[in-house]
Amino acid sequence: MGIGSWFAVLRSGLFLFCALVGSNVVAHAQADDLVAKGQYIFALAGGCACHTDPKGTPHAGGRAFPIPLGTGYSTNITPDKETGLGAWTDRQIHDAMVKGVSRDGSKILPLMPFEAYSGMAEEDLRALIAYLRTLKPVKKATPPLKTRVPFVRSLATPVYLKVFGRFSSSPPLAPKSGIERGRYLVDRVSLCGDCHTPKNSMGVPNRSLYLAGASAKTGFLGEDVPNITPDKETGIGDWKREDIAELLISGTKPDLDNAQGLMAEVIQGTPYGYKDMKKEDALAIADYLKSIPPIKNKIK
Ligand code: HEC
Repeated sequence: MGIGSWFAVLRSGLFLFCALVGSNVVAHAQADDLVAKGQYIFALAGGCACHTDPKGTPHAGGRAFPIPLGTGYSTNITPDKETGLGAWTDRQIHDAMVKGVSRDGSKILPLMPFEAYSGMAEEDLRALIAYLRTLKPVKKATPPLKTRVPFVRSLATPVYLKVFGRFSSSPPLAPKSGIERGRYLVDRVSLCGDCHTPKNSMGVPNRSLYLAGASAKTGFLGEDVPNITPDKETGIGDWKREDIAELLISGTKPDLDNAQGLMAEVIQGTPYGYKDMKKEDALAIADYLKSIPPIKNKIK
């Protein structure tokens, strides 16, 4: 072989080597991008704060929530293989989030807001699942459900969902800006209504009081949740859009008080939360809140 053909072999080898390394670098960069995006969705979702027991390890579940005639517990969402999501496939995590079906096919109680998440965009779900896989695994079994409702998973939950369930189908992509972006975040990712819309004794949201607040006495959460519709008297009609964005990002209200309780938890996150929201997303939420019908509903 002449020197020229050796050169050609060397050159093509070098080319192949660069292509392989290059594609590997690209694949890694894409995976990193997906995880970074997932971390942002996790922040917009308030750090999935329900899965952190304030007295326990982050994301390992076990936080108690009242359900009709009993108590339910949030689950461990860390990648622990035995007690968390480590042995679940992406599809199984996806179906738990949007259909309320667990890995063994059993029903997840609608305490987990899978009806709302059923409208989360596929691109955001995919990123969020990739991010969840990067959490530190924690071994912690979820306490069994306590309730006096018979067959709560096998019978009561399916019947409840048949009667009250409102599922959507995930769009492939999320709205990127404007009021549509705000509506998407409020209803599908940040789930403001999970706390700010009152529920009846069966846990069904009262949609005629959408975002109009819930009182500690009648609500499930044990604290007053304010009316955030644009009603001037009983809601936040006199807040400017910048005031709402400021509260979401810094926790400070226009009267310079700080948000407390559950609101502080979702702002602070675990450790990512609403505080990590981009200004433009906080403003999109504010613009959407300003566009919904004002509802007179005095909480305190
Ligand atoms: C986990 C429950 C929970 C979620 C989720 C939640 N909030 Fe709140 N929010 C509260 C509680 C409780 C308060 C009252 C805090 C206080 O008294 O300081 C509050 C307070 C507020 C206030 C202050 C209102 C006032 O009159 O002082 C605004 C505005 C607000 N939330 C907007 C939102 C928006 C927008 C979202 C979604 C992006 C949201 N919240 C999600 C529980 C929640």
